[in-house]
Amino acid sequence: MTLEDKTSNLATNAAAASQAPQKSVFVKTFGCQMNVYDSERMSEALANDGYTATDDIAAADLVILNTCHIREKAAEKVYSDLGRIRQIKLAREKRGRSTVVAVTGCVAQAEGAEITARQSAVDLVIGPQSYHRLPDLIRRVEKSGERIVETEFPSEDKFKSLPGRAPPMRNPSAFLTVQEGCDKFCTFCVVPYTRGVEFSRPVAEIEAEARRLADLGARELTLLGQNVNAYHGIGPDGRPHSLASLIYQLSRIDGIVRLRYMTSHPRDMSDDLIEAHADTGKLMPFLHLPVQSGSNRILAAMNRKHTAAEYIGIIARVRRRRPDIALSSDFIVGFPGETDADFEQTLELVRAVTFAQAYSFKYSSRPGTPAANHEAQIPEEVKTERLTRLQELLDRQQSAFNAQSIGSVVPVLFERPGRRPGQLIGRSPYLQLVHAEAGSEMIGEIKEVTIRSATQLSLGGVIQAA
Ligand code: 5AD
Ligand code: SF4
Repeated sequence: MTLEDKTSNLATNAAAASQAPQKSVFVKTFGCQMNVYDSERMSEALANDGYTATDDIAAADLVILNTCHIREKAAEKVYSDLGRIRQIKLAREKRGRSTVVAVTGCVAQAEGAEITARQSAVDLVIGPQSYHRLPDLIRRVEKSGERIVETEFPSEDKFKSLPGRAPPMRNPSAFLTVQEGCDKFCTFCVVPYTRGVEFSRPVAEIEAEARRLADLGARELTLLGQNVNAYHGIGPDGRPHSLASLIYQLSRIDGIVRLRYMTSHPRDMSDDLIEAHADTGKLMPFLHLPVQSGSNRILAAMNRKHTAAEYIGIIARVRRRRPDIALSSDFIVGFPGETDADFEQTLELVRAVTFAQAYSFKYSSRPGTPAANHEAQIPEEVKTERLTRLQELLDRQQSAFNAQSIGSVVPVLFERPGRRPGQLIGRSPYLQLVHAEAGSEMIGEIKEVTIRSATQLSLGGVIQAA
């Protein structure tokens, strides 16, 4: 998953906003795409209560940090941001302006009342399963001045309790969460604790949201879930449907021309999903399939439930059905007990598979997870050295993958303005970033682009004359 922090603005629901007093909200999103999706849904719910977006934190009546707990650094960043926010809140108080500060997401879930105890500026702590209650809880805070910590897993359905998707769409490529939580319990990972057990949304509910997003201008949907290929939502026939079945269903929506999904587990890479890559034109040739390590010993200690050979076997099956598929993965180096020989096996696996892109991390001990108590923690400098070596290899593979595109013509879905005026940024089917000279009217269009240049991180090209 992408790890940049994103500051997201919210959608303005002008009709609703006109009935309520105008207030502004600043939302900062940390972590994965699922948090980006959650921030959008929270923002849309708040728009109904008269909130408009601001990029200026000092002007905001409400500040939301939607947080990530996956690695220690991500959680620590939240506390350092809260320190700065406290200063802003105090400065606003001096000017007679109140500010509600809310912490949502996985740090909220994991730390709960610890956050309000550690940081006096925080009024509200809400876990990822309760953010549909945000508008009500904010009203309670404003009315009574109480500080609220809400980290239960509520009995009502969050998705059903949220208002429908609202304009404006900011990007023709939209996220749609179809599955949440995880039952895999990898020994390093907090997700089963912060996001709870695996839950799949019903097919009809997802289809309705997908159609709404298409009406609002979405051309591409990325179906999200911590374990998205374990999807087993109930269909209109009352039976559980697989991710492949959901993809076939959504590919019938005219306005949606591209489908992606993320993140998958090797154990759930079923034959029907592999088949869908071969025979659904709208399903893009890209697969993010975390492997974490190339050593069977470490994979077993991680409770990954697959071996390196099984992973390579899955990739071979996918490539047989979709030879051009671009592969992506997640890696952890320095898991407790990882020897030089284990790490060499990770490098070997990378050489055997060849990835188009990948994310790699130093193992980060997370309180409450089984691996945190492991005696054989790896020294920081060893982790750093291994990460550098792994990333050099992965970067070379990514550069080589992109360089292969030079001279080819690829369909690019243009998403947003580029840094230079007159330039747009879009994505190839293989999720590569592509820059090209194009007017803003082309945002949301798919154009054939001749690729002229490539770097490790992006491609440059020229739109073919019609
Ligand atoms: N330390 C380092 N990386 C981790 N990830 C998850 N938990 C940890 C941890 N404790 C990585 C895994 C996962 C990705 C989302 O984050 O590679 O696939
Ligand atoms: Fe975490 Fe493992 Fe579940 Fe992925 S599969 S969310 S790494 S426990």
